Amino acid sequence: MRAQVGILGAGPAGLLLSHLLHRQGVSSIVVETRSRSHIEKRVRAGVLEQGTVDTLCTAGVGERLLREGMVHRGIELRFGGAAHRIAFEDLVPGRAITVYGQQEVVKDLVAARLAAGGEIVFDVSDVRLEAIDSERPTILFAADGQQARLECEFIAGCDGFHGISRDAIPGGVLSVFERHFPFAWLGILAAVAPSSHELIYAQNERGFALHSMRSPAVSRFYLQVEADDDLANWPDARIWEELRARLETVPGWTLTPGPILEKGITAMRSYVAEPMQFGRLFLAGDAAHIVPPAGAKGMNLAVADVRVLTAAFVDWFASGARARLDGYSAARSRSVWRAQHFSSWMTTLLHTFRDDDAYARKLQRSHLDYLVRSRPAATSFAENYVGMEML
Ligand code: FAD
Ligand code: DHB
Repeated sequence: MRAQVGILGAGPAGLLLSHLLHRQGVSSIVVETRSRSHIEKRVRAGVLEQGTVDTLCTAGVGERLLREGMVHRGIELRFGGAAHRIAFEDLVPGRAITVYGQQEVVKDLVAARLAAGGEIVFDVSDVRLEAIDSERPTILFAADGQQARLECEFIAGCDGFHGISRDAIPGGVLSVFERHFPFAWLGILAAVAPSSHELIYAQNERGFALHSMRSPAVSRFYLQVEADDDLANWPDARIWEELRARLETVPGWTLTPGPILEKGITAMRSYVAEPMQFGRLFLAGDAAHIVPPAGAKGMNLAVADVRVLTAAFVDWFASGARARLDGYSAARSRSVWRAQHFSSWMTTLLHTFRDDDAYARKLQRSHLDYLVRSRPAATSFAENYVGMEML
C-alpha cells in the first residue's frame, strides 16, 4: 500500500487530517486498531469551540453539527449555595461553544471519508513504524490475518495517548512534562432531558460535579471520584444520589434522574511531549498532549493541531517548501500550553483535594468569588473557555 501520508488512528485528529488533506489533493490512508462501530460509539468529549465548529463547517462536514449541535452562550458555576452565570455573549461577544458529541464528529468524518473513496483500515493489530527518519517511512501492521506495509512520505501519529507512534521516537529526543491529579471522573450518559439549559460546573465539598448534555432528550454528567475507583462501587442509585447531593445546592433547582445508558471512569492527567515531530513522523492530538477534561480542551486542541499540520503538508506537496513542517511543533506550542494551564487551573479551582487544609479551601473559595464578581476575571475565564488561538 502507498499514500503520501500514512495516518495512525481514526479519532477526531486522524480522520480530520485525512479529510482536509483529501480536499487539498493529498492522498492518505488511515490505519485504526478498533472497529468502525467501536469508534462511532465511544462516548467522550462534547464541547466544541467556535474555531472547531468553523473548521468542520469550512471542511464541509458541519451540516449535521449545525442542525443538531446545541449552541451555548454561557455556562454556570455553582458553589456556596448559589448559581453564577458566565455570559459569553456579554464578555466575549460573538463567541460561543457548541455541544455536540465527539462520536457524532467521528461518524460525520468517517461518512465523509468513505463517501469520497477514502481508505480507513479498521481492526488492525501489531502496528509498528519503520524508518521514520528516512524519506520512505513505513507503517507495518496485520489486517485480516495478513501482514501489510503502508509506504508513505510522511506519517501522522494521531493514535491517542496510548498509541505507539510517540514511543517510536528514539529516546532522548522528546521532553515530557507531566502531572497526575489525585482523582478521576465517573461519566454517565442518561436518557433524560437535561435539568438545565446550560452546562453546570459545581464545586462542592463532596467533590466536583458537572451537568452537561447531548440532546434535548439525553443528558451527560460527571462526578469526581477516587483515582483508583471502580464502576462496581457505583450502582445507578448511588450515582443519582451523589449527583443530587452535589448539584441540588441552589434553592428551587431539582435534578431529574433517568435510565443510565453508559458509564465509565477516566483518569486525570496533564501531559505534553515536545517536540511533536521527529524525522518524517508528526504527532497530533492526544498522541502528543492530554489535559484534564474540566476545561473541555482535548478534542479542540486535536482539531487545531491538524489544521496547522495540514497546511504544512500541503506546502510541502505543492512546492517542496518545508518551513511550516519544520516549524510545526513550535507553531503549536503556545496554544498547547495555554490549554494546559487553563485545564489545570480549572481542575484546581473546582475539585476537592483531600489533602487541602482549611486555608487552602478558603483560597479556593476566594478565587471562585473573584471570578464571578470581577468582570476582567470573568472575561479571562470566558476567552479561555470559548477558545483562543495563541499565534
Ligand atoms: P483519540 O480520540 O484517542 O483517537 C486515537 C485513535 O487511535 C483511537 O481511535 C484509537 O483506537 C487509535 N489507536 C490507538 N492505538 C493505535 C495504533 N497503535 N494504531 C492505530 N490506531 C491506534 N475534549 C474536548 O475538546 N472537549 C470535551 O468536552 C472533552 N471531554 C472529555 C471527556 C472525557 C470523559 C474524556 C475521556 C475526554 C474528553 N475530551 C474532551 C478529550 C478528547 O476526547 C480527546 O482529546 C480526543 O479524543 C483526542 O482526539 P485524538 O484523535 O487525538 O485521539
Ligand atoms: C463535557 C466534557 C467536559 O470535559 C466538559 O468540561 C464539559 C462537557 C461533555 O462531555 O459534555
